[in-house]
Amino acid sequence: MVILSKLISFLLFLSILSVSSTDLDRKNGICEIFVRKKGFNCHEFIVRTSDLFLLSIQRISSKNATNLNETNPVFLYHGIMQGGDIWLLNDRKESLGFILADAGFDVWIGNTRSSSFTTGHLLYSEYDEQYWDWNFDDIVSKDVPSMLRFIRRVTKKRILFVGFSQGAMAGFGAFTNKKVSRLVEKAVMLSPVAYLSNTKSIIVRMGASFFLDKLDRALGVYRFSLSDELVRQILETICSASNLDCYQHLLQLIEGPSYCINQSRTAYYSKYELQSTSMNNIVHMAQLVRSGGFSKYDHGFFGNLFQYLTISPPSYKLKKVPKGLPILLAFGGNDYLVDVKDVLRIKKEINGSMEILFIPEYSHGDFVLGTCAHLHVYPRILSFFGNNMTS
Ligand SMILES: *[C@@H]1O[C@H](CO)[C@@H](O)[C@H](O)[C@H]1NC(C)=O
Ligand SMILES: *[C@@H]1O[C@H](CO)[C@@H](O)[C@H](O)[C@H]1NC(C)=O
Ligand SMILES: *[C@@H]1O[C@H](CO)[C@@H](O)[C@H](O)[C@H]1NC(C)=O
Ligand SMILES: *[C@@H]1O[C@H](CO)[C@@H](O)[C@H](O)[C@H]1NC(C)=O
Repeated sequence: MVILSKLISFLLFLSILSVSSTDLDRKNGICEIFVRKKGFNCHEFIVRTSDLFLLSIQRISSKNATNLNETNPVFLYHGIMQGGDIWLLNDRKESLGFILADAGFDVWIGNTRSSSFTTGHLLYSEYDEQYWDWNFDDIVSKDVPSMLRFIRRVTKKRILFVGFSQGAMAGFGAFTNKKVSRLVEKAVMLSPVAYLSNTKSIIVRMGASFFLDKLDRALGVYRFSLSDELVRQILETICSASNLDCYQHLLQLIEGPSYCINQSRTAYYSKYELQSTSMNNIVHMAQLVRSGGFSKYDHGFFGNLFQYLTISPPSYKLKKVPKGLPILLAFGGNDYLVDVKDVLRIKKEINGSMEILFIPEYSHGDFVLGTCAHLHVYPRILSFFGNNMTS
């Protein structure tokens, strides 16, 4: 029996090695936990990146949808320290994932490397330092293109992209590459990050200016998780230095006061959200807060010379995002993390076909977890996507 099961796992290993995706329905995956019990179709696939991460994608549709083959697929992409579950955590009538499926869309949920609901890595486990050895540039150059290409291959259609926060940022980065942007039909960017120079979030500012880089590899910290002892100690230091009651309202301090996130669901949300990410992803974001740019990871003088042949890291040039790509930018006036000035800078640099949905009362997270987003935001997304039957 033992030999048989070893043989089976070896064959499974080989099959994952040779095909880039397998239909797979894990007991502890997103389909099982969040989707099927609500009566939707849900299938899970694995997409292998060039550096051998195994990303899970879930495909969700309504059981009574009749024209799935005629609509463009929608790809939902989560932010930093989240997973694909973020689109499914509220009720059926409140969560964008379910709303789109109920409206007849073919919904695909993306999951960034190392997030909780992904399948892992072909060679490393979460206990290995290599599992956390990546930064935002890997999301842009590997995760987003592999997932979009996979969806394109299965559906033969161009994709309606929806990104939240760092998910939007990854979209902007990836769309500066024509090979990726041509896979996309339209894009909705919710609470979009690209520039962080005007961020009002005190924790983010303090973290960026004093602390986070010191946590870097020198200390042997590769994984960033709010439940790690060291990270907690650092947060405590920031919080007491700035007289903030972090434990009460950590997320609100980072993102701003939410308008309609249901506070009595906090325990439920925190069961799934605030997932781990790589320390380098956090360090990279801290670099952007300090530099005010939208650039690749700064490896230091010699590291940059080696990596990029330049002494400072190259920028993602937003003007390379195709002007003809229809984009809906949705952002809030109470978002501490993403300042209105920084969003308008994105708009100006892309200088393309852009619509704006500005909601003064909204903070960062309201666009994805707010229980009123189905009134203020999602109808606009549906109409922006329209009756999109092209390929
Ligand atoms: C979509 O599928 C339906 C039935 O499954 C079929 O009648 C229709 O022709 C298909 N449309 C396209 C564009 O393939
Ligand atoms: C499918 O049925 C559900 C429940 O009756 C409804 O809410 C939803 O809008 C329907 N979806 C489609 C695509 O017909
Ligand atoms: C907030 O969530 C709780 C628990 O799910 C629910 O009972 C309550 O109705 C929700 N309130 C609002 C305003 O959505
Ligand atoms: C934006 O695009 C328009 C034409 O589409 C052009 O006339 C204008 O100069 C551009 N603005 C900038 C800042 O590049």
